[in-house]
Order: sequence, then C-alpha cells, then structure tokens
Amino acid sequence: MFKFDEIEADKLAFRYGTPLYVYRENVIRESYRNLKNAFSDIKTRIHYAVKANSNPWILRILKEEGAWADVVSPGEIYLALHAGFPAEKLLFTQNSVSDEQMKYALDSRVRINVESLSQLKRLKVLAPGTDISIRFNIYIGAGHHSHVITGGPLSKFGIDWESTDQVKKIVSEGNLKVKGIHCHIGSGILDAEMFVRAVKNLLITAKKFPDLEVIDFGGGIGIPYRPDEKPITLKELGQKLTGEYMSFCKDYGKKPELAVEPGRYLVAESGSLLCMVTSINKSRKYTFMGTDTGFNHLIRPAFYGSYHRIEPAVIREGEETTAVITGNLCESGDIFTRTEDGIEPRRFTPIEEGDLLIIHNAGAYGFSMASHYNSFLLPAEILVKGSESRLIRKRETYNRLLDNIPDF
Ligand SMILES: Cc1ncc(COP(=O)(O)O)c(C=O)c1O
Repeated sequence: MFKFDEIEADKLAFRYGTPLYVYRENVIRESYRNLKNAFSDIKTRIHYAVKANSNPWILRILKEEGAWADVVSPGEIYLALHAGFPAEKLLFTQNSVSDEQMKYALDSRVRINVESLSQLKRLKVLAPGTDISIRFNIYIGAGHHSHVITGGPLSKFGIDWESTDQVKKIVSEGNLKVKGIHCHIGSGILDAEMFVRAVKNLLITAKKFPDLEVIDFGGGIGIPYRPDEKPITLKELGQKLTGEYMSFCKDYGKKPELAVEPGRYLVAESGSLLCMVTSINKSRKYTFMGTDTGFNHLIRPAFYGSYHRIEPAVIREGEETTAVITGNLCESGDIFTRTEDGIEPRRFTPIEEGDLLIIHNAGAYGFSMASHYNSFLLPAEILVKGSESRLIRKRETYNRLLDNIPDF
C-alpha cells in the first residue's frame, strides 16, 4: 500500500474520504531549504507565489521557514496576512488592477509592484511619495505552455523595458521611490539558461534605478512531471545568477537584495490528489477508468495537456492494463492521461473499481485552480508529517453550493 510519509493511503481515504489533497509538510520545508542554500552566497529573499497554493496552513509553513510572499489579488493579501506574514514581506503584483484594489494594498501597507504605465499614472495620484517596485517585460519569455509564458511581445504583463524614461518621468512627477525592480518570464521552466538571459536583461534595466533595495527575478522554476524530465540543477542556477548579480553590484556601487518568486517549485511535489476509481468503461479504442474527481479539482491536464504521474495505491498481481484515467465531469476533455494533442493511455498494474489512485505532483495549481463546476464539492485538504495527519480544509457539504444565494 502506498504511504504518504508513514501513513497508508487507504487509512487516509477511510478517515477523510476522497477526493483528497494530501500535502507532505517535510517536502515543502526541504524544497524551501534547497532553494535557500542555492543562493547562500548573497542576501536573498524567497517570495512564495501564493497563487500556487493558498491554503493558510501551507502559507504558515513557508512563513515559518522565513519566506516572503508574492500576492496577486486583495484576496491573497488577506490570506497571507491571516497566515501571519508581516505586510512588509508581501509584494503585490496584480495584473489589470483597479484603484480600489491598489487602495486595499496601500491600506494594508503592502508594497505595490507596478505592471503598466497606466497603473503608474494612477498610483502617482493615489499615493504620491510611496515606495514602489516596477515589473518590467524584459522581452524574454519561457514556460511549459503558451498560457504561462509571461515575457515577450505577446505578453500582457509588465512595462516594456524600453520605456524606462517614461517610468522615470511619472515616478518623479509623483515623487514615487522605485525600491524594487522585477520580472517574471513564465512558469515551469527547466532550463537554467533562460533565467540567466532574463537576469542579464533585468540587470541592464536595474542600472537605471539608483535606489534599489531589491532586484526580483520572479518565479518559474519547474519541476520534472514527466519521467524523462530532469530537475533544474539549483546549485548551477544559484551560481550563475549569483555571478551575474555580483558583477552588477560592482558597477552599481551597492548591493540590493536578490529576490526569487517561486510557487510551483516550493509546493508542487509535496502534494497529491488521492482519488477513487468509480467506473470502468470500454470503447472500441480505450479502457476508461473513471474517478471521483475531475478537472474541477485538478485542471492542469485539461487546461495545458500537462502530465501528472498516476499510481495505484495498491499494486495488484496480474497482467498490466492500458487505460485512460478520466474524471467524472460531463466533458470529453476531462481526462487526466492526456497531452496537448489529446488522449494518451498509460500502462498500469491491474486496476479495479474501488481502488485508490494517487495523482502526483499536484501541490501547485491544483486546489488553487479548483472550482465547483458540475456542482461537485471541492476536495478536502490534509497535511501529513511523519505518522501524523491534520485536516487543513474541511470537506464541504452541499449547503456550500447555496452560499451567497439569497433565499427565494
Ligand atoms: C508574477 C509571478 N510571480 C511568480 C509566479 C510563480 O510562478 P511559478 O509557480 O512557476 O514559480 C507567477 C506565476 O504565474 C507569477 O505570475
């Protein structure tokens, strides 16, 4: 029987039900420490990208480790403060932000990372004299899918790095102080060289801002989802970025802190979606193993064609089977074993109805992208540490579907 740390999967399913998000606390702490160690030669802030997984218990673990936080909505500010992050350790990088949302950040004493010239113009009026950070589009983009490439001419994010003169003009009109500079080129990147290229461009821009406290290279560090993918070598990444940064500091005359902003890297591998096989159906082409979850709970395969390793909790004796693992939603795209091009059956040890499956690497962009589509309830979430487990989000009940609906 598959174990999460020291606890058998069936014990968790029996106690908490399925579908169930299971996170291993030690894996999160270890990922954080590995990253911190890779940048140990310079003063580095690790901003956890809350969007990857915003459960306050997860946030609290990263806060305890010493993380800062990247927040992209007033809701994420609210959750991070609730988890105990001090306001000065948050950076607010919302896309397409309204004045009201900026006021929420300002009232919460959270620094704003400005994404567009129009936002900068509004902020100059809303909060003259404020310390700010600027997100630049440094015209390099990368990522596991076109949906998550956030640099370059197709990207809606950040101020064009050739517009620094306009930035400086608006900043001086509003007596704003540029204390930070930032880029984020995309998500799910396994090639260290892409980060080096991005850093070089960001540092060219940084030279134009003399009072920086921090230079933030964004997130995007990938994890290997497919069996043939190799993890990024953090040591090499740390050394390369540190090298670029040190030579920048010599010219710059001071040493701003360095920041990185990972979400996926810190939490993806800690989490799994534990579910149950609830139907077996055969077409002329495929054997479909249906589960009690779907893309309403883990959208990455349907949305990006992403690969998640799937493993039966019990390895049964017998002939291997080739199967397509599906969800229980009324859409044919509700398939967990797929690529961007379509269905991709996989080989498994024998699977029967009632068996538990573990969908691995689901700790990032899993629950945080979940919805009530088809009016299924959201999964419960638990945190496992050694032989202990703790419920960190209760299973919903059907009255949740009537939340905020006025009575007839
Ligand atoms: C501004 C910003 N920072 C950080 C991240 C985190 O990316 P990842 O989870 O790939 O590290 C994102 C992801 O979309 C982002 O938009």
